[in-house]
Amino acid sequence: AAAAITIPVVVHVLYNTTAQNISDAQIQSQIDVLNADFQKLNSDASSVPSAFASLAANPSIGFVLAKRDPSGNATTGIERKQVTQTSWGTDDKMKKTTTGGLNAWPSGSYLNLWVCNLSGGVLGYAQFPGGATATDGVVILTTAFGKGGSATAPFNLGRTGTHEVGHWLNLYHIWGDDGTACTGSDQVSDTPNQADENYGAPTYPQPSCSNTSDMFMNYMDYVDDRAMYMFSTGQSTRMNALFATGGSRASL
Ligand code: ARG
Ligand code: ZN
Ligand code: CA
Repeated sequence: AAAAITIPVVVHVLYNTTAQNISDAQIQSQIDVLNADFQKLNSDASSVPSAFASLAANPSIGFVLAKRDPSGNATTGIERKQVTQTSWGTDDKMKKTTTGGLNAWPSGSYLNLWVCNLSGGVLGYAQFPGGATATDGVVILTTAFGKGGSATAPFNLGRTGTHEVGHWLNLYHIWGDDGTACTGSDQVSDTPNQADENYGAPTYPQPSCSNTSDMFMNYMDYVDDRAMYMFSTGQSTRMNALFATGGSRASL
């Protein structure tokens, strides 16, 4: 079935070396991963442990490279710019032409994705709903974007994009960002209370905070790309609330 909502995407590629000027195919691979993961069409959905299988949700959100630019002209949905900067911080400079980057397209009509060489081991970062329109969107490290080309293991399956778009759609980290205290919450009731993030490719179960197991295979944990493969029903409901009348992404 087609997705209930389809979001036009513009990808702003900022490259210093020619290797960072990723191919159209690599860009499309990221769009394909988003479509699979946000419609529960990912082939690894079958790996969800049986204890969590009934909670694995189809958010029914689709993504397509924009076919019209903000002026209404035909576009590939891809912008490219060679830059002198060799790396970027998390200070949004890549989002503005005046600071060496490329401007956002109107955030009420597009998901903006910037691809650039983030410094400091940052795989990506996102702006939550309700922030400044000029900086709305998601930034992804060139080597963690899509599949093939510059994508590098263990972050070579496009899941950084899935995780960051999850933030852009109002999802918090599944462990509640409380540094093992078991008091933080992701504001989602069907994800188990979890102490801290997980890394690598854990085996089930991984208990913490008196749960049976962390839902470490959730896209909003920190495991490797091959080890994350579900959103929960509660997360799906939280994302889809943004598109309802009065929701902060309803214009999409
Ligand atoms: N560390 C990043 C963040 O907090 C992204 C983590 C993505 N994980 C992955 N396996 N691709 O937003
Ligand atoms: Zn995150
Ligand atoms: Ca929870």
